[in-house]
Amino acid sequence: MSEVHSLDTHDDLDTHDDAAWWRQAAVYQIYPRSFADATGDGIGDVAGILSRVDYLAELGIDAVWLSPFYPSALADGGYDVDDYRDVDPRLGTLDDFDAMVDALHERGIKVIIDIVPNHTSNRHEWFQEALAAGRGSAARDRYIFREGTGPDGSQPPTDWVSVFGGPAWERVDDGQWYFHNFATEQPDLNWDNPEVREDFLTTLRFWSDRGVDGFRIDVAHMLTKDLSEPLPSSAELALLPQDGTHPLIDRDEVHEIYAEWRTVFDSYDPPRTAVAEAWVSTPERRAKYASAEGLGQAFNFDLLVADFDAAEFRRIIADNLAQATLSGSSTTWVLSNHDVTRHATRYGLPALDGRAVKQGVEWVRAGGPAADLDREQGRRRAEAATMLLLGLPGSTYLYQGEELGLHEVAEITPEQRQDPAFFRGAEFDGFGRDGCRVPLPWSADGSSFGFGADGAHLPQPAWFADYAVDVEAADPASTLSLYRKALRLRRSLQTDERLEWRETDRDDVLRFARPNGWQVVTNFGTEPFDLGSDADAVVLTTQPLRDGVLPGEATAWLRA
Ligand code: NOJ
Repeated sequence: MSEVHSLDTHDDLDTHDDAAWWRQAAVYQIYPRSFADATGDGIGDVAGILSRVDYLAELGIDAVWLSPFYPSALADGGYDVDDYRDVDPRLGTLDDFDAMVDALHERGIKVIIDIVPNHTSNRHEWFQEALAAGRGSAARDRYIFREGTGPDGSQPPTDWVSVFGGPAWERVDDGQWYFHNFATEQPDLNWDNPEVREDFLTTLRFWSDRGVDGFRIDVAHMLTKDLSEPLPSSAELALLPQDGTHPLIDRDEVHEIYAEWRTVFDSYDPPRTAVAEAWVSTPERRAKYASAEGLGQAFNFDLLVADFDAAEFRRIIADNLAQATLSGSSTTWVLSNHDVTRHATRYGLPALDGRAVKQGVEWVRAGGPAADLDREQGRRRAEAATMLLLGLPGSTYLYQGEELGLHEVAEITPEQRQDPAFFRGAEFDGFGRDGCRVPLPWSADGSSFGFGADGAHLPQPAWFADYAVDVEAADPASTLSLYRKALRLRRSLQTDERLEWRETDRDDVLRFARPNGWQVVTNFGTEPFDLGSDADAVVLTTQPLRDGVLPGEATAWLRA
C-alpha cells in the first residue's frame, strides 16, 4: 500500500506566489567570512559575495541565507555581535550590503539574514554599559547578572556548564557574575527586559526596510529563562523535562516574543519570513516555532544525525511531512551547515555507532586519517541524498561548498583553529567546527584557490584544487554541474506539496511520486536497481544509468 502525504490546508497555495516563496525554496547558506574575499585581507566580505552573484544565479538557488556579517571580534565566528544594525568594517559597509541585496534581487534571489537574539558580544555597547554601571543598574538588567555563592561570593551562582563546555558564569571586576550559554564573550540577554524586546523589533525593521526578505533565528528556543531562586544544580537541570517549563530551554513564553515579531514581519509586503534554529524535544514543540503566528518555519535537523540508510530516511521524511501538517508550515531539509561535519565526509566514513555526526567528529579528532575516508563514496552518497531532498516537498537548505562535493578539512592545527567549542572542549561538536568553515576554492590555481589575494583565514589543503569551482564548472559530470541541472529542473518539480510513496521490492531503494508526475528513486544500496521501461522517463541521475539500471548509491529523477 502506498502512503500519501498531503498538506491539505495548503493545497490551494501557489508556492511560486511571492508571499509563499519560502515554502519550497532552495536556500543556499553563505558563511560570509569564508565565501569570497574581494579586499584581499584573508577574510571573505560583502564585496566578495557581490562579485559572485553570477555564480549564485547560475547555481539556480531561490535564496541565500547569510550567517552573521555584523561587527564582531569573531569569538564565535560572528555569532558574537557587537552591533546588530551595521556591517563589520572588515566585511564592508551598509552601502555595500544594499548593493549586494539589489544585485541578488535583480537575479530573483531572496536574502535571509541571521539574527542572534539570545546573546550579544561582550563588546556590545550595552554590555560595556552594564560593566561600567555596576550592580543593580538598569544597564545590568539587560543581561543576567547574579551574586556568586560561597562566603565571599567567589563561587559561581550555579555549576552550570556552557554549551561550548566550561563554566556558564563569568565573574566581573566588582564581583558579580554574568550568565553565558555559549562562550564567555557571549553574555545572554534578559528577555524579560522590555528594552531588549523593543530593540530587536527595531533591528527587524531596520533590515526589513533595507529589503531583506527573511531571518534565520539563532537558538530561537533559548531566549526566555526562569532564573528564580533557588536555582537547580546542573545535575537537577539535566533531569528536568523540556516540556515548556524547563528553566533554560524551550520555555512556552518564548512564543510571545515571536508573536510580536510576526506583527512586524506581516507589516511588510510580501511578509518577511523567518526560520527557527530550535533544538527541541518533540515534533509538537518544534511545530510551535513553525506556526504562522510565530516564526513560520523551523529547521529540521534529523538528517544531520542520520546514516545513509533508506529506512532511516523514509522514517524521517514521513515524520517531518506529518509535522508540517501540525504547524501548517512547510518542511525543511538540511544535510550540512556551518556547525557540523560536511555530509560528503560523514557518508564516506566507516560507521561509528550509527551516528553520522559523531562519526565525522571522531574522524577529525583523530587527525582525519586518509585511509578511513572514502572520498568518492562520500561524494557519491552525498549527491544521491541531496538529490533525494531536492525532490521532496518543502524547502532545502544547502551549505556553501556542498555543491562542489567538498569534504571536511581535518588538516587544521590547534594553533590555526578558531572555534570556541574547540578551546572550551564542548562534547556536542567535539573537535570544533572549523573544518566545514574553510574558505571555498574558486580556482585550482592562484592565491588561496581564488578565494582572495592574500591567503585564507583558515588553511586550505592541497586537495581543494580538485574541488575548485573552475574545475567543476568545466566538467559536465561534476557535483557542481549536477547541482546546477537539478536546481533548474526543480523549479518545475516543486508545485504542490504532496508526496506519494511508491513501494519497491527492495528495502534499500526509496521511491516516491509528486502529483505532477515527477518521481524520485534513490538506491541506498550497492546493488544496481532496474528501472525497467521507466528508464525512458529519467531526466537526471547522480550516476549514469547502465542499460536502464540505476547503479548503487545513486538517485534518479523521472518525469512522466
Ligand atoms: C547556533 C549557531 O549556528 C552556532 O554557529 C553558534 O555558535 C551558536 N548558535 C551560538 O550563537
